[in-house]
Amino acid sequence: MIISKAHRTKAIGIFDSGIGGLTVVAEIIKQLPNENVIYFGDTGRYPYGPRSREIIRKFSKQNVNFLLEKGVKFIIIACNTASAFALEYVRKMYTVPMIGVVKPGSEAAARLTGNGRIGVIGTEGTIVSSSYQKELKKLNGSLKISAKPCPLFVSLAEEGYIDKPAARLIARDYLSEIKQKKIDTLVLGCTHYPLLKKVIGNVMGGKVTLVDSAEQTASAVKDTLTRLELDNPSKKTGEKRFYVSDSPEKFKRLGERFLGKRIGKVNLIDINAY
Ligand code: DGL
Repeated sequence: MIISKAHRTKAIGIFDSGIGGLTVVAEIIKQLPNENVIYFGDTGRYPYGPRSREIIRKFSKQNVNFLLEKGVKFIIIACNTASAFALEYVRKMYTVPMIGVVKPGSEAAARLTGNGRIGVIGTEGTIVSSSYQKELKKLNGSLKISAKPCPLFVSLAEEGYIDKPAARLIARDYLSEIKQKKIDTLVLGCTHYPLLKKVIGNVMGGKVTLVDSAEQTASAVKDTLTRLELDNPSKKTGEKRFYVSDSPEKFKRLGERFLGKRIGKVNLIDINAY
């Protein structure tokens, strides 16, 4: 099938529970600078981490409907909790190609481990769903996986407590259990955790490789767009547009730390209309 140039220049749609998915946008900007991006942060219904599968599925469906109305060519579920609970569910309902963050992160971890012992950290929902654990076992049944929810990391990242004694204390406490399991690879299975890479790395020690799901997802998106002939042929820097379901000003202020760049206009939408 020949994909028209007009279709290929359409935006990639990305959604997350709030600002965290901007770590994925930052990687897209790095690896696919010419792609247009439409980002939706569900700030009005944040956080997703402690919620049930049913509600995350309902929210994800509405978020996809919104992005489709904007005419996107491809969808990235940047939120680990939504990827874990809802990717397969929404994928079955639509024809637009979609990707989550769990598979790319798992593939990288399975590739990088030397001793076959992998740790996974994420929100309560992501860990309870066992999505990373299942994906890793699918890739290699002999892997030994230790998983641990680290919910406070989300608040630490949002509050900018990324290199303070409190962050080190919490990280030491959260990670002590999986550290004892002698893992050599740790999956940062939450949008916010890449911001805490330094403190997590210090606690785990230099021999443990940290897998950033955001980085791995952007590289999987690059491969998938090329394979599907959906990559934007334009050489111009892509346009980035931001939408939220509450508090655009707060999104802009906190989001710039996650994106590492200035954010222009942020548009407020009523997600319950979708
Ligand atoms: N975006 C969520 C995730 O990656 C973290 C924040 C939340 O709980 O909504 O799982």
